[in-house]
Amino acid sequence: MSAGSTVHTPIEVPLARSPYQVIVGPGLIRDCGARIAEILKPSRCALVTDSNVGPLHAEAVEASLRQAGFEPIRITVPAGESSKSFEQAAKICDAMIAAGLDRSSMLVALGGGVVGDLAGFAAAIYYRGIPCIQIPTTIVAQVDSSVGGKTGINAPGGKNLIGAFHQPRLVIADTDTLRTLPPREFHEGFAEIIKHAAIRDPQMLAADDSLDNIAPLIARNVAIKAAIVAEDEFETKGLRALLNFGHTIGHGIENAAGYGRLLHGEAISLGLVAACRLSVEKSGLPQAAADQILAALARHHLPQILPDNISTDSILAALRKDKKFHAGAIRFVLLRALGDAFVSDSVTAVDIEQAIEALR
Ligand code: NAD
Ligand code: GLY
Repeated sequence: MSAGSTVHTPIEVPLARSPYQVIVGPGLIRDCGARIAEILKPSRCALVTDSNVGPLHAEAVEASLRQAGFEPIRITVPAGESSKSFEQAAKICDAMIAAGLDRSSMLVALGGGVVGDLAGFAAAIYYRGIPCIQIPTTIVAQVDSSVGGKTGINAPGGKNLIGAFHQPRLVIADTDTLRTLPPREFHEGFAEIIKHAAIRDPQMLAADDSLDNIAPLIARNVAIKAAIVAEDEFETKGLRALLNFGHTIGHGIENAAGYGRLLHGEAISLGLVAACRLSVEKSGLPQAAADQILAALARHHLPQILPDNISTDSILAALRKDKKFHAGAIRFVLLRALGDAFVSDSVTAVDIEQAIEALR
């Protein structure tokens, strides 16, 4: 391992069948090949990235993989949410077939949540599942999407409707990669951090979030996510569902806006505002606590006002197709207090419509 990189203690994701580690720190991609070789035999492998991240970070990853004995082929998908599609998943699989990759191969996903979800899905279905290494390069991906094994693509009817649980074998979160994020993409990531703060760790609302000292904050978020995933890997016990705080309305907005108009974290910011309002109305969250969440969103320039040209009807139509609508009823995550989230059945369609209107 190269000298001088500060690697924080690896965070364990202690799943019974497929435990793995998340490593967080600056400069990690320079050594990623050696770290992967500690757990997987060197082989031909796919490095899946997108058209923004590839030119910035793929060469460093490839060099390290080659040094460790892997033979990577690079597969680049267009940047953006619309790549979470069957078409792109098929292109990745076709490229792996053409390169002769088989069940002894592995796939490395280098990019944000879009690449992680899409490439993770390709790894889940290729030869009925090959090992996947996640190298997340956005804040959303480092604190949330690369950990927990949810992979998937979107359908015209809704986000993430097609997918598979496929846990990564290792997650390498190199915080130096965040330095190349444009400001808007940097700030959007804080929506998921603020979500974790709201449901589990309110002190994090005031944590140091400067880029120069971001590794401890990323690690703290990974630990929250890892603990929840370890207890409820397949979201059957009601615990993992708490991670959907702000996501029911947020996903509806993201879908209704048309993928690409709002970044994921921006849509989730609007969903968090609506969920805070509903928590004040339905579960007694003190307004002062909701205001702390809104202030944190504002500090990160995250939107709290819905763009006029996204109609309430289109959001409601998208919501009706959401996975979180359980047998036609709505299972909505609310807060009783900061750090105290629960799944409620008491939020009605009318409540949701009013909460969306209140975002205008
Ligand atoms: P993204 O992957 O689209 O990345 C945002 C933008 O930043 C893209 O243009 C990308 O090319 C660019 N980018 C990424 N890393 C960069 C870097 N280091 N430097 C410069 N540019 C870079 O979006 P995201 O916000 O990372 O992820 C959102 C996706 O994640 C959504 O599809 C969402 O559904 C999914 N998600 C999944 C989970 C899960 O548990 N699987 C959890 C949260 C979010
Ligand atoms: N991002 C929600 C989950 O992983 O369950």
